[in-house]
Amino acid sequence: AGARLLRDEPMSKRTTWRVGGPVDVWVEPADEEDLARVVRECREARVPVLVVGRGSNLLVTDSGFRGVVVALHGEGWQRVEVDGTRLRCGAGARLKVVAGVARDAGLGGLEFLEGIPGSVGGALRMNAGAMGRCVFEVVERVRLMDGDGSVKEVEGSRLPVRYRSCDGLEGRIALGAVLRGEPASREEIQARMQEYSRRRWATQPAAPSAGCVFKNPAGVSAGRLLDELGCKGWREGGARVSEVHANFIVTEPGATAADVLRLIRRLQEHVKRERGLTLEPEVRI
Ligand code: EPU
Repeated sequence: AGARLLRDEPMSKRTTWRVGGPVDVWVEPADEEDLARVVRECREARVPVLVVGRGSNLLVTDSGFRGVVVALHGEGWQRVEVDGTRLRCGAGARLKVVAGVARDAGLGGLEFLEGIPGSVGGALRMNAGAMGRCVFEVVERVRLMDGDGSVKEVEGSRLPVRYRSCDGLEGRIALGAVLRGEPASREEIQARMQEYSRRRWATQPAAPSAGCVFKNPAGVSAGRLLDELGCKGWREGGARVSEVHANFIVTEPGATAADVLRLIRRLQEHVKRERGLTLEPEVRI
């Protein structure tokens, strides 16, 4: 049908870290039917499929990905519709847009989505969060596609989730979600969003990154820990531990995925040696 298809697409163009080699085939299915066809064809041909959102939490190696990368980027996937105190969002909708629509509709509780640099689909898969809140706290229903191409809607509370992951979406594709808001004044909502945005600009770097690299170990900020251990400014090639927030690795033009990976390993080894802690990446590698 109307799928957009690109061959040998460099993933460096498709991830916020701006690194990563080519994928054999990049596909943007037009709609659910189109997506189901891609999923079934790949399954039959035993071609690996990777579904990506905005690539803001993803490290692709320099050799790229042998298979098909599916992105739900078309207009149909980006819809955000208000229905009373609910928002029905497509997987391709940007969280910033969702937060804006919620504000305009006078729906509070979704302000924390404002600064998360991703799409609804990716945020569901990884149970993204900010400002002490996470996506599944506001999810009422998830629309998803199973590995066989069939579509269903599931209550959010029925999907197993944890900090920075929705394991219930493993091997499945999030197609969209119904989010819950609470009536509030637009001024109040706007003020909260502005406060979050101010905090983010003050504490997080603007250079290309994938947000936080590691999950916070129980009770500790990985960023604070790496900062205390003197890791700010550590460098491997074009990848560097941010001076602004030590749980961010920022890249310069010309950086490679290998640079980023070497730096990740170095940080993990250092923290293991110094504190006996295992830092687990939150980015998908
Ligand atoms: N801190 C330092 N040095 C640093 C970084 C942080 O001393 O280099 C201190 C801060 O001053 C603060 C404390 O550590 O006292 C916590 O820092 P922050 O508020 O930045 O929170 P975080 O635990 O480091 C978490 C999320 C972020 C989210 C922020 C703000 C994780 C792994 N990280 O970071 O999420 O934006 O809270 O809500 O859960 C992401 O997931 O990609 C991400 C950026």
